[in-house]
Amino acid sequence: MKMVRTVTELREWSRALRCAAGTRENNTIGFVPTMGALHAGHASLIRAAAASCAHVAVSIFVNPTQFGPNEDYARYPRTFEADCALAGAEGADVIFAPSVEELYPAGGATFVEVEGLSDRLDGASRPGHFRGVATVVAKLLIAAEPDRAFFGQKDAAQVAVLRRMVADLRLATELVVCPIVRDADGLALSSRNTYLSPTERVRALTLSRAIRRVEELVAQGERGSAPLIAAARRVFAAEPSILVDYITLVDWATLEPVETATPGTLFAVAAWAGSTRLIDNTVLR
Ligand code: PAF
Repeated sequence: MKMVRTVTELREWSRALRCAAGTRENNTIGFVPTMGALHAGHASLIRAAAASCAHVAVSIFVNPTQFGPNEDYARYPRTFEADCALAGAEGADVIFAPSVEELYPAGGATFVEVEGLSDRLDGASRPGHFRGVATVVAKLLIAAEPDRAFFGQKDAAQVAVLRRMVADLRLATELVVCPIVRDADGLALSSRNTYLSPTERVRALTLSRAIRRVEELVAQGERGSAPLIAAARRVFAAEPSILVDYITLVDWATLEPVETATPGTLFAVAAWAGSTRLIDNTVLR
């Protein structure tokens, strides 16, 4: 597996493949952007990329601009050696691991702002977060010029922001969204789960319990936003140590609240287990 540290090297790798002999389909490039601390959720993205693309690059970069001043940038888990081993085992050909200075050169003044969407859901609770995400993902996609980039549905609001950005900037990359990967007991996998104490880990199951309750009610025919949100609130009320940030039913493209669930509507929750903020969601069928 190749290790690449600069944007120029990544671009050269990508362009060399484009120029290589063979059909276009033989040279497709898949890209999996990550902040490292890889788990089975990331593994599923890398596997999906390897299954549908001839070449796969995985970026490992803890992006400072998507963390607020009092957030966990400094203590975000960094497990670089293990990440490289996992990415290689799942089919990555290249690891792109730039320094902060490489992606944010001194004096840089350019950011990508997806207006409107960036202030909703996690963007409302984490001002500036989606500006940081959109900026770094734009930099990565412009550098790697992949055919497809792979993201997890767990960060559903991020997906909405990035879909809008790719469409608005007319980037030539297709975004592929892969299903949430859960532990056997239902907890959605997240690099931040490592922050949870054993007690918090058990209590954090409230999020997936609320998601399941809403899915059950929709399966029984309930479509109203108010009763679905009320039912989820009752699940959270049974575990008062978990503090709700938001519980919402939104249009997945616009992140605007909806009154009635229709196929494709996003039901999303965010909540605090101690000092750890967790998110989970389901796309209603
Ligand atoms: O989803 C993540 O891990 C990050 O937000 C991303 C897309 C790698 C950008 O830093």
